[in-house]
Amino acid sequence: MQYDIFTNAASRQRGECLVIGSFEQKLGSEGAAVDRVLKGRIRSLLASGDFSGRAGDTLLLTEVAGLGCPRVLLVGLGPENRFNRRAWRKAHSAAFAALLRTRVASAVLALEAPTEDALDAEHRARAVAELAGAALYRINHLKTGRQPKLPLLKRLRLGVADARAAAAARRGAADGDALAASSALLKNMANLPGNICTPRFLGKQALEVGKAHKRNMKVRVFDTAQIRKLKMGSFLCVAQGSAEPPRFIVMEYRGGRSGAAPLVLVGKGITFDTGGISLKDPAAMDEMKFDMCGAATVIAALDMAARMQLPINLVGLVASAENMPGGSAVKPGDIVKSADGQTIEVLNTDAEGRLVLCDALNYARRFNPAAVVDMATLTGACVIALGAHHSGVMANDEALAAELVQAGRAADDRAWQLPLTEEYGEQLKSNFADMANIGGREAGAITAAAFLSRFTKGMKWAHMDIAGTAWLSGAAKSATARPLPLLAEFLIRRARG
Ligand code: BES
Ligand code: MN
Ligand code: ZN
Repeated sequence: MQYDIFTNAASRQRGECLVIGSFEQKLGSEGAAVDRVLKGRIRSLLASGDFSGRAGDTLLLTEVAGLGCPRVLLVGLGPENRFNRRAWRKAHSAAFAALLRTRVASAVLALEAPTEDALDAEHRARAVAELAGAALYRINHLKTGRQPKLPLLKRLRLGVADARAAAAARRGAADGDALAASSALLKNMANLPGNICTPRFLGKQALEVGKAHKRNMKVRVFDTAQIRKLKMGSFLCVAQGSAEPPRFIVMEYRGGRSGAAPLVLVGKGITFDTGGISLKDPAAMDEMKFDMCGAATVIAALDMAARMQLPINLVGLVASAENMPGGSAVKPGDIVKSADGQTIEVLNTDAEGRLVLCDALNYARRFNPAAVVDMATLTGACVIALGAHHSGVMANDEALAAELVQAGRAADDRAWQLPLTEEYGEQLKSNFADMANIGGREAGAITAAAFLSRFTKGMKWAHMDIAGTAWLSGAAKSATARPLPLLAEFLIRRARG
C-alpha cells in the first residue's frame, strides 16, 4: 500500500473516494466541513434515518460534486460520548471492508479521531496501515473453484494537523506497512494445516526470510542430529512420537551496533498438538494446528525488524516439533534431561510447550542477551484467566514486564501481567526428577511460567502466553497476528528510544 500524508482540508484532496465519519445523529468537525460543500446532503441523510451513524455502518455516495473526490464513503462512529480508540479502529476496519467491496484504488481518509486517550500522528498512521493490511489480507486457502477478486485499493491519503505531524505520520505509515506485511507472513504460516506447515516448512520459511534480508540477517536450521548434539533432550522427547522430524531455528538480525547485546525472541513451534499419549479430547482439536503461533510470531518479528530497518540486534529462536502419540512417543512418567542438565519427569505429555521452550531458552544464554522474551500458546488456563482479550505476561524482571504491558497498551494489542512469585514453583515438585512438567490444576498459566523460569536464571526474561489471543475460534477461525503489533511497539521503543 502506498501512503501519502496531507495537511490541508480533506474536502480539497484528490482521490477516488473521500472517507468521512459520522456520529449517531451528528457530524464531527471533519464531516461538517465536507457537508458544507455538499450543501447539507449528509445532514439530511442523518435526519431522515437513511444513514444512522451507528458503529460499523457505511454508506457510499456516488457522483458527488464540489469535492476533490467523486465519491464519499460515510462511516458510522457510534455515539459521540462513547467514541474511543476501539471505536476508531472498528470504524477504520468497516471503512476498509466497504472500500474493498468497490473498485476504488485510491482513497482519502478523513475520519474523526477520538479526543480522549488520543493517539499521536505516528501511532495513528501505524494503526491505519495495520488495519488496512488486516482488511486486505486473504487466507491462502486451499479451496478450489472460483477465486476471489483481487482487491484494487493501492493508495491511501491520510490527513494530519501540520508539517511536524506529517513527518511522524510518514514514519508511522511506513512502520505500519512493514507490520502489515509481516502480519500477513505470520498469518499465512499459522492458517496452514499441520500436514503442510510442519517443522521443516517453518525452517524453510525462516530461511526465506533470511534470504530476503541477507544483507544483515543470518538464518540456520538444525535437524534432529544437530539438536541431539546440542543435548536438547527435553525438546527431542516431544518430537520422538512423530514421523515428522523436529527443527531448531536460529535467526540473527544485525541492525544495531556490533557487539551490542541482542534481544532474543523465543517461539513455541508445535505444528500440531495432539497432546501425545496424554491425548486431547477430539472437540476442536483441529485448532491445535495454531500451536505454532509463537514460532510464527518470532519469524515474522525478525522479518518486521528488517523491513523497518530497526537499529537493534535481534535473535529469533524457534523450537519446532509435532506432538504425536506414536509408538516411540514419550510416556507419562518418563524422565528426560534438558540441555542444561536438569532432569524433568514428564507427567503429562500434553504439557509439551514448556518442554521444547526450556531448551530454546537455555540456548539463548550464549548470546548474552539484553533480554529474552518467549511467546507461546502455552496453556488453556491462560485462556480461562484472560480470555481472547489480553495476552498473559509473566517475568523474572518487573521492568521488562512493564515494558511489554505498556507496549501492548500503546499498540492496542493488550497484555496483562500475572504474578510469578516463588510459591508457584513449589507446585512442580517431583519424587523422581528435578521437577515435574505440570503443577496441578491451580494457576496453570503461572506454573507453566514457573517451569520456564528454571531455565532463565540470570537473564532478564519475560514469557507471553498467547493461547487466547493468537487466533480466533468459531466462524471467524483464523490467526490474528497477535502479539506482533505489541512487539512492533516494543522493538521500536527499544531501537529508536
Ligand atoms: N497448546 C496447548 C495449550 C492450549 C490449549 C492453547 C487450548 C490454546 C487452547 C498446550 O500444549 C497444552 O496442551 N497445555 C495443557 C497443559 C496442561 C496439561 C498442564 C493445557 O493447558 O491443558
Ligand atoms: Mn499440549
Ligand atoms: Zn501445545
